[in-house]
Amino acid sequence: MSFADLWRDLEPLGRDPGTGGYRRYSWTKADTQCRAWFTRQAEKLGLTVEPDNNGNLWAWWGTARENAIVTGSHLDSVPDGGGYDGALGVASALAAVEMLQDQNFYPERAVVLALFTEEEGARFRVPCLGSRLMTGTIDPETARALTDDDGITLAAAMAAAGADASLLGPREDLLQSMAAFVELHVEQGRALAPMGAALGLAERIWPHGRWRLAFSGRADHAGTAAFADRNDPMLPYASTVLAARRAAAERGALATFGKVIAEPGGANGVSSAVTAWLDARAPDEEALAATVTAVRSAAEFSSAEHGVALSVRQESYTPVVRFDQRLRDRIAGVLAAAGVTAPVLPTGAGHDAGVLTARVPAAMLFVRNPTGVSHSPAEHADLADCEDGVRALALVLEDLARLT
Ligand code: GLV
Ligand code: MN
Ligand code: MN
Repeated sequence: MSFADLWRDLEPLGRDPGTGGYRRYSWTKADTQCRAWFTRQAEKLGLTVEPDNNGNLWAWWGTARENAIVTGSHLDSVPDGGGYDGALGVASALAAVEMLQDQNFYPERAVVLALFTEEEGARFRVPCLGSRLMTGTIDPETARALTDDDGITLAAAMAAAGADASLLGPREDLLQSMAAFVELHVEQGRALAPMGAALGLAERIWPHGRWRLAFSGRADHAGTAAFADRNDPMLPYASTVLAARRAAAERGALATFGKVIAEPGGANGVSSAVTAWLDARAPDEEALAATVTAVRSAAEFSSAEHGVALSVRQESYTPVVRFDQRLRDRIAGVLAAAGVTAPVLPTGAGHDAGVLTARVPAAMLFVRNPTGVSHSPAEHADLADCEDGVRALALVLEDLARLT
């Protein structure tokens, strides 16, 4: 199947007809459909698909369990996510293998397509969960106990989908079998378009993390409780949102509250509790720490002012990631030989490649996003750029899969 055909086949899975956004949450029906799609497409190419113990899928082209060249991404999405984030890397990996097979190329090293689980952390709140488990950067016991918004644990969600969470844990053998990981991904942000470049290469990922802020007050009547008598958690929450924006802007960082739950949720009542999630990212770890400290202080100050209790918990943290320079230079050389210039860019978005690079040389290829919009149904990449991405990935795999 061409890239365009693969894309058409994948496009309807997990898309909400109302918003046009994707709701491909891990271990749900949409996720099962995505896994089945990946398995079907990989098997059509003659690859052997193996689920691992952490919910990731691996499709092997070749049998040697050493020095494998791995490519792939994720198919889970944020709430009402775009179609390209993750999916572009998976579809491009399949299309690149098909392109190489059509050219009668046979890899001297195994080429492996990876499908990582819960990259977005949209359901269980820890991003890159599949790669973190594999590399041992999250404890399996902690992972099993993670809960979604309905209180369902990861262990229960996996069991309901026919997977066994008791087996979660690091996979030294898989890591040892990998010589390189190359993840193709839609660009998130808008750097390539002004440069007139269809493709880019990742230099580093900003350090980033998520913090859960729980403001607890007292429910009351919106029409009768005097302001002076209220303990309204919405007020410190609101001033914390504004403080976060200021604190981040002052430091060249980013801070976002994208998820908030007000309880009990009555339009005519003061809330009893407000739980909100801060996503903070910065060019370096000092700026990130200073931003989060400033947000926390603002939340504490304002909570005290309104007689509201506050608890803050870090749910995930990813230090700065610098991608392997030798691998990037090699890829840049392969692309340059084919007449492709790929500018080197930093990014504020997290990726499984970022988690893996601590253990395996990793690189990322970005495909131009003309508007820069991502984590949104408006996310887009032009078909011609996607096809350039597939050709580039095929060239890179062809080069890396040779025994040299
Ligand atoms: C993943 O896309 C993230 O950066 O949150
Ligand atoms: Mn994403
Ligand atoms: Mn992604």
